Amino acid sequence: MTDTETDPRTGGRPSPLLAGVGGPRSGYDVERVRKDFPILARRVHDDRPLVYLDSAASSQKPTRVLDAERDYYELHNANVHRGIHTLAEEATALYENARDKLAAFIGAPRRDEIVFAKNSSEALNLVAYAMSNAATSGPEAERFRLGPGDEVAITEMEHHSNLVPWQMLCRRTGATLRWIGITDDGRLDLSNLDQVINERTKLVSFVHQSNILGTVNPVATLVARAREVGALVVLDGSQSVPHMPVDVVALDVDFLAFTGHKMCGPTGIGVLWGRGELLAAMPPFLGGGEMIELVTMESSTYADPPHRFEAGTPMIAQAVGLGAAVDYLTDLGMDAIAAHEHDVTAYALEQLTAVPGLRIIGPTDAVDRGGAVSFVLTGSDGRALHPHDVGQLLDELGIAVRVGQHCARPVCLRFGVPATTRASFHLYSTRSEVGALVEGLGHVGRFFGT
Ligand code: ALA
Repeated sequence: MTDTETDPRTGGRPSPLLAGVGGPRSGYDVERVRKDFPILARRVHDDRPLVYLDSAASSQKPTRVLDAERDYYELHNANVHRGIHTLAEEATALYENARDKLAAFIGAPRRDEIVFAKNSSEALNLVAYAMSNAATSGPEAERFRLGPGDEVAITEMEHHSNLVPWQMLCRRTGATLRWIGITDDGRLDLSNLDQVINERTKLVSFVHQSNILGTVNPVATLVARAREVGALVVLDGSQSVPHMPVDVVALDVDFLAFTGHKMCGPTGIGVLWGRGELLAAMPPFLGGGEMIELVTMESSTYADPPHRFEAGTPMIAQAVGLGAAVDYLTDLGMDAIAAHEHDVTAYALEQLTAVPGLRIIGPTDAVDRGGAVSFVLTGSDGRALHPHDVGQLLDELGIAVRVGQHCARPVCLRFGVPATTRASFHLYSTRSEVGALVEGLGHVGRFFGT
């Protein structure tokens, strides 16, 4: 379905969802961008303006995405790939149209390489379970089979989504999990890369941009080593796809996982991109409706990708909403978004470094670094302030940050801290919000005596 101003299938009523959504904007006007996000006008705690610095946990949603989901339900709602009536055809077209948008957004050569999943965790589990399901599948699944003596390589920088599924896969198959460590300045320690990724390595999975350190990892270096030993490469793009241009062909990975709710889309929808020839050979993860070809009481054959990996009624409205988010990001321009966030991040690093008692956990320069800035605060008596206290005081000032281990406990262990406070930025974040954070930390310092 192409975007058209009106659609006769809505009975003459223009469908906002099917309508054109306006052309690209020129220049990057963050104040104008902010007006697209109704929630950013909220006031909290004694009518203070909301300063939302928790976008690494979940981004806010522009009106266009909210409208897309609402319009889908008001005008087109039905199940997909099952009906011959008007609404079923419209819903199917909108769902598949979202797949086209996602494919274009990440430079996927083929639309059937986009598999919708619930989130990044489910996308990564899909690969992990398909690999262990390969043990009982036919010869085409040979390249995914793992067993004792095989290895899976990750990094110490992974959030739990890209750690626990591989631990579980190794436990199911008898394979061994290895990982690349982190340097003191929050980069990958590549000094023993050739030992960690070696001729026994079947799969390498790593985070593109760390959710806790902000580090952007050297994909080409890791991919080159994985190729030398013939390992598959999975990239966790949860924190990169929302913030920078990502092209799967240029990155030369085999799989890319990312999630909609961090990229201005709805919750409950994520994506696994996989090379077409790999998805075609890969056994399914979940069984059920939609993913089958022929079913008897004894056995079933499976549909081609992507449907083989989309068992059951999918997340239709969420996919439509994610398609609208992709339109929104594309119109703003991912290069412009990345440049804006880089500016805010560089400013934040400069300002935060000057806060008394504050230590940044992660790179302190803005090179190869995204906008998630974690830190710990130490009082003048030398005692570390608990991040929950810091977060609570900031919240009272209207400033939303995340505190804790950020679903990446091994990173906290690596840096010897129980938890951190994290400010994270997105396309609507501003330098003045960074100013509010720094002022807020001054208040925290006076309260606790840093
Ligand atoms: N992984 C998400 C975060 O970084 C939930 O907060």
